[in-house]
Amino acid sequence: MRYLLSFLALSLLTSASPLAGSEFTARHVLHRVPTGWVTVDSAPADHLIEMRIGLKQARMDELISVLEQVSNPSHVRYGMHLSKAEVDELITPSDETANSVEEWLNGHGVQVTGRSSAGDWLYARVPVARAEQMLNTRYNVYRHTSGSHIVRSESYSLPRWMDQHVDLIQPTTFFGSIHDVGPKFELETRATPTNNTECGLYVTPACLRKLYKTEGYVPQATDKNSIGITGYLGKSPIPSSIRTFKFFNLHRPDAKSPAFSVELVNGGQNNETASGVEGNMDTQYANVITYPTPNIFYSTGGLAPFTPDSTTATSSNEPYLEWVNYMLAKDKLPPVISTSYGETEQTVPKDYAIRVCNSFAQLGARGVSLLFASGDNGVGAGSCMTNSGTPRKQFQPLFPATCPFVTSVGATYGMSPETALVISQGGFSNYFKQSCYQEKTILKYVKSLGSKYEGLYNKKGRAFPDVAAQGRNYKIVLNGKETPITGTSAATPTFAGVISLLNDYRLSKGKKPLGFLNPWLYANADMLNDITLGSNTGCGTQGFNATVGWDPVTGLGTPDFEKMKEKV
Ligand SMILES: *[C@@H]1O[C@H](CO)[C@@H](O)[C@H](O)[C@H]1NC(C)=O
Ligand SMILES: *[C@@H]1O[C@H](CO)[C@@H](O)[C@H](O)[C@H]1NC(C)=O
Ligand SMILES: *[C@@H]1O[C@H](CO)[C@@H](O)[C@H](O)[C@H]1NC(C)=O
Repeated sequence: MRYLLSFLALSLLTSASPLAGSEFTARHVLHRVPTGWVTVDSAPADHLIEMRIGLKQARMDELISVLEQVSNPSHVRYGMHLSKAEVDELITPSDETANSVEEWLNGHGVQVTGRSSAGDWLYARVPVARAEQMLNTRYNVYRHTSGSHIVRSESYSLPRWMDQHVDLIQPTTFFGSIHDVGPKFELETRATPTNNTECGLYVTPACLRKLYKTEGYVPQATDKNSIGITGYLGKSPIPSSIRTFKFFNLHRPDAKSPAFSVELVNGGQNNETASGVEGNMDTQYANVITYPTPNIFYSTGGLAPFTPDSTTATSSNEPYLEWVNYMLAKDKLPPVISTSYGETEQTVPKDYAIRVCNSFAQLGARGVSLLFASGDNGVGAGSCMTNSGTPRKQFQPLFPATCPFVTSVGATYGMSPETALVISQGGFSNYFKQSCYQEKTILKYVKSLGSKYEGLYNKKGRAFPDVAAQGRNYKIVLNGKETPITGTSAATPTFAGVISLLNDYRLSKGKKPLGFLNPWLYANADMLNDITLGSNTGCGTQGFNATVGWDPVTGLGTPDFEKMKEKV
């Protein structure tokens, strides 16, 4: 089988161009197999890959301009979010792109099996042997320290003429080690916080609602509003309703029936037996702050186990892409979505990161606020060595927190004063440049650093986090017991919950939801509680300090619902 296909593909290539070999452009090359993975063997020739081809979106630049306009409070188009059809129109590839790439596939005997609603993604099922010729690469089976196996390549190339038509092809060099940003168990106590001192030790919904001043607000637009919470990895799905009710009994006895639903994406699961910390924490806190606003939990699958003797197509394991494409295909979207997942930016191929980030821009243009945890590694985990070229030390930011079209949330602790949590991740992207909404603010901070950490961070990079919220010792209900949990994972659904209440307020006044938040946040920094104490560490350094104004530990600060409400 393999040889037959190879022959066909080769003869087509050579007839198209006698110099086929030299006409490829390298799209991505890994300098080494990502940490945690080892090569097991070459992939079986007839193993099927679910190939995803990301076509160039014809008017992506225009979409980003529109996003900037509809999210800028001083622009006449503020709040005039696009519909699905309007976004699709901007991102639909040109006919030339669509046709030439489809011809290329057909020329290799490959049929398109599906496409995204805007036609900017083509899906095809391709045997390894064929994919190797199309992409001028080798596919191997790799094993992760966790025991799971995947089929990937360490580089891939495309014919040069495709440079102007294709952004990326997956699965190739992205190993997809997506993980929750690491909610951490803390020692358990029996204290049930009631006052400031105790809230400083253990955080409950009552503490947060008081500190961030949402306790007096009664949502009024719950028929129009909702909040989304994403979950990945299958092992962190939803809390059972019993646990949710136990949590509510403890913390919101006024809440009779929290409106909560689950949507399964890309083979995601809703398995209460395998329910994990992240899913429970995110949903419990988002629910309790926004009650009675409907909550939707998106459980996204990925990492389908590879079985060596099977020709069944492996799941592409591109969870962000699968999730975002699922969302973009919907007509109606929740105005706020909270995500507590991410991975070290340098482990995500740049073309992949850019494409995912542009997809987030599309959700933003449609009026969705995306909040992502900034990460729990301070300025970086471990030795912080770069993974390409000559290894050198560099602060290690987290993606997707570094995407300029999302709002990234760091963490604090203590009530009076609120202080930066030492793990709160922050810094500067090495992939994305600073957007104009934050340039001035960041320049001020960078100047104050002087030559400190010169060469360890990218001064012109998208700086994060944007904001922060409490992140230490959240009391959640896990397996029927109260358990304290720490991380920016906890801070994110909290900040998202406050934004959801602000949207409720806007919707109840007949206004549009806030949409992409950052231009509004940076233009109104004084509506947030500026955090000026504490620092984050990492990479063998003291890290950055929280300071007056923005800093790469707590961003602009933590929410003050009352002040923010005056600015919506
Ligand atoms: C907070 O509550 C605890 C226990 O209820 C009490 O011992 C403590 O004195 C209180 N602190 C303040 C500042 O009210
Ligand atoms: C749910 O998770 C449990 C524990 O991991 C596992 O034993 C069980 O097979 C799973 N059920 C389904 C339907 O996947
Ligand atoms: C943080 O503050 C400490 C104490 O004031 C100071 O020594 C250190 O240089 C500061 N670090 C940065 C990165 O500004």
